[in-house]
Amino acid sequence: MSSLYERIHQSKAFIEERLSVKAKTAVVLGTGLGEFAHSLTDTIEIPYSDIPHFPVSTVESHQSKLIFGFKSGVPLIIMAGRFHYYEGYTSAQITFPIRVLKALGVEKLLLTNAAGGINPHFREGDIVLVTDHINLLPDHPLRGPNDDRLGPRFPDMMHAYDKELRDTFKEISYTINIPLLDGVYLGLQGPSLETPAEYRMAHVLGADLVGMSTVPEVIVARHEGLKVVVFSIVANVCFPKSILTETTLEQVISVVNKSSKTLQSLLDKYFDKVNE
Ligand code: HPA
Repeated sequence: MSSLYERIHQSKAFIEERLSVKAKTAVVLGTGLGEFAHSLTDTIEIPYSDIPHFPVSTVESHQSKLIFGFKSGVPLIIMAGRFHYYEGYTSAQITFPIRVLKALGVEKLLLTNAAGGINPHFREGDIVLVTDHINLLPDHPLRGPNDDRLGPRFPDMMHAYDKELRDTFKEISYTINIPLLDGVYLGLQGPSLETPAEYRMAHVLGADLVGMSTVPEVIVARHEGLKVVVFSIVANVCFPKSILTETTLEQVISVVNKSSKTLQSLLDKYFDKVNE
């Protein structure tokens, strides 16, 4: 069995053979956010199943491919579909593609997800810029021997969510009049949604959002030295219990689809600005 470092570079070589330009930014699209990929030009798609060592998404609501293309002239790699711990993979496996993105030359990582709203002021469809996280997933992506070529043994998490990038997105949100809230994301394993008592626990712990993804990706991205920004769309309001209702995947997708257009205009403006 080859080492993690070797596997990353085998995946990288496979992808690089198919691309002509390097991208410094990558975007991970979560549940219901696939539409953004359609706004890219001159796209090249690589199914995850073709890439050596990539896991394969088992979630039907997610696509399963890398899309390379241009947004306002800026080269970009999109992960259309991500991997989750609840699919049966380890946290190290689900974050392998993040390491490959870094090896490909990516410096900034924009992650999106659908999340449950714990902050009682949040409403369905709100867009939240994640400022921090609480990791309660049972498997840490950096568990095991550390390869110093990839990152430090004990990466600092003080500045996991890049302040400069957050300020840029806040500025853009003011100029185009899109409310962009702040929040702490609590990562749980799923795949069952939380009980009312668990949502209350999330609130007591200091979370504004709860979800089943993203946190392992952020940890590995920071291990690799990437700058990270995360957007959550509030798919369902979870707290207080008096306003809690049953949630289905269809509802989550429908709420996220509606807000994804707003999030997309924020991203559009960002890439216009990068290109200026
Ligand atoms: N819990 C966990 N993950 C989620 C939720 C939720 O209520 N909504 C969307 N993703």
